[in-house]
Amino acid sequence: MEIKSPIETIRQRISCRSFDGRPLDDKIKEQLDAFLRQNTRGPFGNPLRFELVDLTEAERAELKSLGTYGVVQGASLFIAGAVAKGPRAMEDYGYGMERNILFATTLGLGTCWLGGTLNRAGFTRKIGLSSEEFMPAISPVGYPAEKKSLTDRAFRFMAKSDKRKPWQELFFDEQPGNPLAKENAGVFGPVLESVRIGPSASNRQPWRIIRQGAAFHFFLVRTPGYDKMLGEIRLQEVDMGIALCHFELAASELGIAGSWQQAIPGFDSGTWEYVVSWATRK
Ligand SMILES: Cc1cc2nc3c(=O)[nH]c(=O)nc-3n(C[C@H](O)[C@H](O)[C@H](O)COP(=O)(O)O)c2cc1C
Repeated sequence: MEIKSPIETIRQRISCRSFDGRPLDDKIKEQLDAFLRQNTRGPFGNPLRFELVDLTEAERAELKSLGTYGVVQGASLFIAGAVAKGPRAMEDYGYGMERNILFATTLGLGTCWLGGTLNRAGFTRKIGLSSEEFMPAISPVGYPAEKKSLTDRAFRFMAKSDKRKPWQELFFDEQPGNPLAKENAGVFGPVLESVRIGPSASNRQPWRIIRQGAAFHFFLVRTPGYDKMLGEIRLQEVDMGIALCHFELAASELGIAGSWQQAIPGFDSGTWEYVVSWATRK
C-alpha cells in the first residue's frame, strides 16, 4: 500500500484537534490498519510497530480526568506505536509515524502529532509497551469537525502553526551561512519545500539541510532545554525523522533515486548536529 501523491498530501496535512465524534467507516479503518501493520522499519533500521487504539467511554473519561489531552476533542481512535530502543530510534519513529499520518490524510482523515500534551502511561498500557521500547508520540485519527474548537485555535495561534521559517534559514549550499535559493535548487525545489512545510513539535522546525554536490546533509539544531521534560523522549529527533520521510517521499514521487548514508561533511557545522545524508544516484 502506498501513499498516493505524497507532495500534494504533505501540502494538505494540517494538525486537527477537533473531531466530529463519528466512528470510522469500516473499510477506511481496515485500510488504515493494514497500512499500519506493514509499516515496520525506518531508515536507521530500528523495528517499529503501530496499532489503532480504540478508547472506551470509560477510558476517554479517565484520560481526560488525568488532564492530558484536553487539546483534542471528539476523538476516540488513536494511532499509537513503539520503536525498539536503539541509536536513532526517535528518528525512525518520526519517519514511520509520519507515513501513517500522511496515509490517513489521503483517506480524508484528520490527525495531530501528540508528544507533549499526552497521557503517556494510559497509552503505553494500551499497547503493552515493553522496557525495551519507546512510545515517542501518538495521534488521534478521525473525521475533522466542521468547526475548530477554541483550544485548537488557541494552540495554532500559540505555536504559529500556519507559519514556517523561510528557505534562507533552513537550506544551504555547500556550507552553513550560504543560503540555497529555491530557484537554484533545481528538481530538489519541491523536495526541500516538502521538508519545510512539515510539522514539528511546537513548530520549532529544527532541521537544516546543506547541499554539497549531489548530496544533501541533514543537521539538527536543538532548542536549548526543549526536550528536558520528557525523559528519554526527544521530540526534536522525532521532527528530524519527519523531515527524512518528507524528503524521501517527495524525491521518490519525482523519480529522483538516492539513499540514506553516513557521509559526515568536512566543514565545521558549529552547534548543528549532523544526522544523515541523502546521496543522489546518478
Ligand atoms: C513530534 C511532534 C509532537 C507534537 N506534539 C504536540 C502536542 O503534544 N500537542 C499538540 O497539540 N500538538 C503537537 N504537535 C503539533 C505541532 O504543534 C504542529 O505540527 C505545528 O504547530 C505545525 O502545525 P500543523 O501541524 O498544523 O502544520 C506536535 C508535532 C510534532 C511533530
